Amino acid sequence: MPCTVVAGGFWGDEGKGKIISYLALKDKIDFCVRTGSVNAAHTIWYKGKRYALHMVPGGFVNEECRLLIGPGANVHVEQFLKEVEETNVKNRIGVDSQASIIEEKHSTQDKTSEHLKGLGTTGWGVGPAVEERVRRTAKLARDISELKPYLADAASEINDSLNKQKNVLLEGTQGLMLSVFHGTYPYVTSRDTSAAAICSEAGVGPTRVDDVLLVLKSFMTRVGTGPLPGEISKEEAMKRGWFETAAGTGRDRRAAPFDFELAKRSVMIDGATQIALTKIDCVYPECKGAKSYEKVPIEAKQFVSKIEKETGVQVLLIGTGPDALDLVDRRNSLNKT
Ligand code: IMP
Ligand code: MG
Repeated sequence: MPCTVVAGGFWGDEGKGKIISYLALKDKIDFCVRTGSVNAAHTIWYKGKRYALHMVPGGFVNEECRLLIGPGANVHVEQFLKEVEETNVKNRIGVDSQASIIEEKHSTQDKTSEHLKGLGTTGWGVGPAVEERVRRTAKLARDISELKPYLADAASEINDSLNKQKNVLLEGTQGLMLSVFHGTYPYVTSRDTSAAAICSEAGVGPTRVDDVLLVLKSFMTRVGTGPLPGEISKEEAMKRGWFETAAGTGRDRRAAPFDFELAKRSVMIDGATQIALTKIDCVYPECKGAKSYEKVPIEAKQFVSKIEKETGVQVLLIGTGPDALDLVDRRNSLNKT
């Protein structure tokens, strides 16, 4: 803090939603800014309820937090309005007037394109919507009457509040390996998912960022087609407790063990200053629900140390269960707040 970018290091679904909701509850976060589009779902467990948010920023769990959708984001109006209702954030959410709009026709184009089907897209239509934006024929938020009450100038709001030393969290979506620039092209999404791109989508310059928090899951998963180094079978994934289905589309997620080379590459390209490691309890079940590092068994600590040694970045947050508060926070003990 004050300005932290949260980015995913693998193929999305690293657990960014959980980390963001933890930070929003524990740290005094004044602004949480969502980037990307509706293809990404952030799962948040809060007060016994599960939210799979495609549009509303995960920081909604903190009722003092102003929520924004950045100018580089792509808004699905119906989904946005539905989630605003569900999370009850009508009075504190804003949409940048320059954010572009994703329409039903884009989803149809996505689902009927043989090429896009071959990539295993989510079918929401984000690729075709982004194409239209680049062609400069897209609708923007300012053209949509239902969005009138929400229109904002996100870049001004964020930068003004940074001038006042407020805490801002820029919420990335997906992971670096899905980046159209840095990922496993052509098996990638339609945007750059790096920390730099998250800043750009929000309207924040690189000199204003204090920390880049890279979220890595203790094993890797991927939905859709494309390479996944070290991939194991579905049966094996089930046996290990690594089998997941996608929060957005319900598809099976493919699984593989944690890859240190990929983690190093994400740290490098994102310029990570901190790591959040999620789902350690799925690899070391004795960690389940742990809230202090003393409760973490030695093998798990060795795994954490190896990540730190290989990447040169400290693992400050460790997720030990689904709830926002199932987490080991090492920031105080390591003097990093
Ligand atoms: P698209 O983003 O829908 O065009 O899909 C392109 C690729 O990115 C496919 O492999 C999708 O499964 C993947 N993808 C897109 N969004 C997410 C996400 O939020 N989590 C995981 N994979 C995603
Ligand atoms: Mg997700």
